[in-house]
Amino acid sequence: MFKPSSKKIMLSVLVACFVIQSGLVYSDDVDIVLSGEAVEGRKLFHDGACQVCHQLWGQGGFLGPDLTNAASRLDQTRLASLLTVGSGQMPAFDYSEEQIRYMRAFLEEIDRPDIGRGQLRLGDPSMSVTPQAAFDTAVRGVASANVLEGFEAFASGVCSACHFPFQTSIVGAPDLSTAIERLDEVALHDVLMNGRPERGMPPPAPALSETQRDRLIEYFAWLNENRSGLMAEWEGLQEDRNVNWSRLDWWEFR
Ligand code: HEC
Ligand code: HEC
Repeated sequence: MFKPSSKKIMLSVLVACFVIQSGLVYSDDVDIVLSGEAVEGRKLFHDGACQVCHQLWGQGGFLGPDLTNAASRLDQTRLASLLTVGSGQMPAFDYSEEQIRYMRAFLEEIDRPDIGRGQLRLGDPSMSVTPQAAFDTAVRGVASANVLEGFEAFASGVCSACHFPFQTSIVGAPDLSTAIERLDEVALHDVLMNGRPERGMPPPAPALSETQRDRLIEYFAWLNENRSGLMAEWEGLQEDRNVNWSRLDWWEFR
């Protein structure tokens, strides 16, 4: 099917890819240097096959919780009890005090907020890439002073827990950029004062002042007017929300 010469070319391309790939993986400069005790802990982690049930940075089994940031959640007594008598579906490991100390050192040293919060990081962590953060950036870039005051009232309330940008959220909170098409000013003031408790919108607490409500309504109107531009910007800001493998720690696989 192929001439011998093209086979040779294909083979050399494959070999070159392999060499480049290996070079990239091993020259990765993101690394955690573990202390001696933590290295012992890592050995225990492998020997105990903890990864069968637990994830580190989102990789591993799903029976138990992700352990990337377990050190910040657990006090020493709880960890010691988990590693000796177990808990629920977590088997007993019968660790000595020394082994518990090693495991604690390991868990503490991998618990690094600058590297990740127990999940695969998306994009560059220093960029605003979550939908809400991208929305904040888009709004702050263009809004006038009054509109920004409305936006602050929205952002400082718990509104964004239920109302998501440009979509109806899972709890049924509508897209507020189209609220102005559905409700007149009187109805908007009414929702912003009393909520709609029977339909899942609590009355805002602390209550919004009349000025805050006016500004919020100005903000909704502005959102509506600039909807398509904002949406494009919002989507653009999230474009690089892909998994950034170069930020993963390869020590696990050495
Ligand atoms: C058979 C599955 C399994 C294995 C193997 C396993 N665990 Fe667990 N682990 C669990 C489960 C399930 C829980 C949750 C227990 C609970 O909440 O009562 C847990 C909880 C934990 C917690 C507490 C996490 C938290 O945030 O509350 C730590 C720490 C932990 N395990 C460490 C380890 C270590 C270290 C190993 C290896 C030596 C290991 N586990 C092996 C299933 C397992
Ligand atoms: C606990 C979730 C929740 C919170 C918090 C919340 N809302 Fe709502 N909101 C809803 C739900 C659900 C609806 C839709 C109610 C319905 O179907 O009538 C809604 C409706 C609205 C409406 C009417 C929109 C329309 O088009 O009908 C406005 C305006 C509104 N919310 C503004 C806010 C503001 C401003 C805040 C913060 C001060 C806020 N909401 C906080 C859940 C919430």
